[in-house]
Amino acid sequence: MNHTTTALDVDGVRVAYPDGPDERVVLDSLDLRVAAGEMVVISGESGAGKSTLLTVAGLLRRPDQGEVTVAGTSTSGLSDRQRTTLRRDHIAFVYQSANLLPTLTALEQLELVGHIRGERSGTARARALALLDELDLGGRRNQLPGQLSGGERQRVGIGRAFMAQPTVLIADEPTASLDPERARTVVDLLSGAARERSIATLVVAHDDAPARAATRRLRLAGGTLHEVVEPATDRAAAGSVLGVGARVGTGG
Ligand SMILES: Nc1ncnc2c1ncn2[C@@H]1O[C@H](COP(=O)(O)OP(=O)(O)OP(=O)(O)O)[C@@H](O)[C@H]1O
Ligand SMILES: [Mg+2]
Repeated sequence: MNHTTTALDVDGVRVAYPDGPDERVVLDSLDLRVAAGEMVVISGESGAGKSTLLTVAGLLRRPDQGEVTVAGTSTSGLSDRQRTTLRRDHIAFVYQSANLLPTLTALEQLELVGHIRGERSGTARARALALLDELDLGGRRNQLPGQLSGGERQRVGIGRAFMAQPTVLIADEPTASLDPERARTVVDLLSGAARERSIATLVVAHDDAPARAATRRLRLAGGTLHEVVEPATDRAAAGSVLGVGARVGTGG
């Protein structure tokens, strides 16, 4: 029916953790589709299961039930090794802290991704240098992570993710440790890449900045995702969904 391949398709996923003698169901018949070029931002209370969802969508954890399809490939029947290959070829991650390797310079962090992908050194270097320039890090390319600011480290982490030319980019609270201005830069980079590099981008965020740049906003509650209706476009519905009717007002 649908001839375009969805970049990421999470279908009927269930995840439960053991909880003493019982189990705690964190994701329950959860569905999510993210298309190329989209930036979906997910919010939800602490413990709602947002990070769990990202690890399932990123093929870092198998769901108890349901199917995750990445770039048109269903993953439930794959071996661990095949899942790792699919993840390497199609998925990149950005974390709250950049998780850089302490002994590699900014340039080397990006080049390494090219080498892992089997690129020739010259190609990897040229792409890494171009990306660092784009991220306004050209002058910092020979610094080690310990010699970079938090915002610079986060931009290197994003450069590393772009270097992988992913189909899907997954970011868990990428702006949580940044001041508002640096957070805006990171959000602009992610939303720009979603559009211009056609990356299916899935971001978990507590703060406002990523939500404002989202093409779609969802809230994780009760194990499933709910559409967040923009107050500006549909105030009445927003009031009922978000429970903020009194604050939003009716505008007379
Ligand atoms: N490995 C695990 N074993 C048992 N319980 C777990 C495990 N990982 C997560 N949980 C539980 O699952 C629930 C969801 O956790 P998760 O980290 O996905 O939440 P979150 O929405 O990302 O929260 P936060 O906003 O605080 O990061 C929590 O109650 C957590 O305690
Ligand atoms: Mg989390």
